[in-house]
Amino acid sequence: MEKITALAKRRGFIYPGSEIYGGFSGFWDYGPPGVELKNNIKKEWWKSMVYEREDVVGLDAAIIMNPVIWEKSGHLRALTDPLVECKLCHKRFRADDEEQLKKHGSEHDGQSDWTETKNFNLMTEVLLGTTEPKQKTYLRGEITQGVFVNFKNVVDSTRVKIPFGIAQIGKAFRNEITPGNFTFRSREFEQMELEYFVKPKDEADKTFEFWKETRMNWYKNLGMSKENLRFREHEPEKRAHYAAKAEDIEYQAPFGWSEFEGIHNRTDYDLKNHGLTYKDEDGSEYTPWVIETSGGVDRAALFFLIDSYHEEKERVILKLHPKLAPYKVAVFPLLANKADLVKEAKRVFDILKSKFPVAWDDRGNIGKRYFAQDEIGTPWCVTVDFTTLEDETVTLRDRDSTKQERVAIDKLPQYLENKLYS
Ligand code: GAP
Repeated sequence: MEKITALAKRRGFIYPGSEIYGGFSGFWDYGPPGVELKNNIKKEWWKSMVYEREDVVGLDAAIIMNPVIWEKSGHLRALTDPLVECKLCHKRFRADDEEQLKKHGSEHDGQSDWTETKNFNLMTEVLLGTTEPKQKTYLRGEITQGVFVNFKNVVDSTRVKIPFGIAQIGKAFRNEITPGNFTFRSREFEQMELEYFVKPKDEADKTFEFWKETRMNWYKNLGMSKENLRFREHEPEKRAHYAAKAEDIEYQAPFGWSEFEGIHNRTDYDLKNHGLTYKDEDGSEYTPWVIETSGGVDRAALFFLIDSYHEEKERVILKLHPKLAPYKVAVFPLLANKADLVKEAKRVFDILKSKFPVAWDDRGNIGKRYFAQDEIGTPWCVTVDFTTLEDETVTLRDRDSTKQERVAIDKLPQYLENKLYS
């Protein structure tokens, strides 16, 4: 983990939030390659969940909603974690985090004296309006409720019919008791979710199995190692308040197997709470059941970073899938002080930039530039050298094999496109 956090900082993937003022626990900022990685994850997700399906539509609901929604959804009562307080120093911890509790005990020479466990609500309060007292509402604790409260709007304004899904990506907020493990447990994070509506009950089980497999395969197809992935079913007492069945997709992180996507059978719990029903083509009216896939964008980004991290002799490589790589290709003039090389390299950069995100680097020697691109996972580097000026070919260097070949400039965009989308 230390190597990952150091690389993330050094190369600009992820910085501690509010860093120049000492940081702010549970908040993180994504730097130039970090925002590209996160955007690529979201783009690939949206493509597979919305564009490649005729039965799913998208939505982007508000982060702040009428507080009555959070009463109806059960979050004000049940989005809680068990909390204990150390009677010696009044620090608070999650009661189920045995490792933290043990560690804290050792800070008091092995003594530990804890309060009774109480349920701590994770919803983040916000105050709105101009008159006192201001109106209290909440930042959304899950992005999901925005989908449910718009269920009727979507049905009435589009051509969807059951079974169908509504997909959404957006920020969620939880006042976590102990944020930690880098971005894994943050107070502000992004979710990518599908709520898939089916006819009551009978369709739910097979839909659950379908989405479970589909979501697992999505991670594998984007290069996450099979041996670091597994499903884990939640015991009934560990399930969220809305779930009749829940299975997590877990990743074998340096800090242990960890959930980063949940597949939930939410039954008719939410739509019923909001008083919403569906009129079928055959005239029957019912409350649909919901199968949900809920992934964390930040956790996926973290696990893609960890999974792709490789050390080889003296270089560090992020072997990210080209679809996820922040930049698909980097362009270098061999020497920064030779005007004709720089001019030609700029021309190559301009040709490629309309097709892919392209990085430019003219600092230091070529070896250093290659290593810098390896560390941010750029699959290909293009060097414009003296031969280029003679025959309009460039050196194309492959990240993983370090093999180099010469490619004609006019063939380069198509050549890279074929590699990227093959
Ligand atoms: N709508 C269902 C839902 O919110 P969840 O299991 O509470 O379910 C889904 O959260 C996903 O959101 C998790 O698998 C995780 O990837 C992400 N997530 C939840 N809490 C998080 C946190 N504190 N920091 C980062 N990601 C988090």
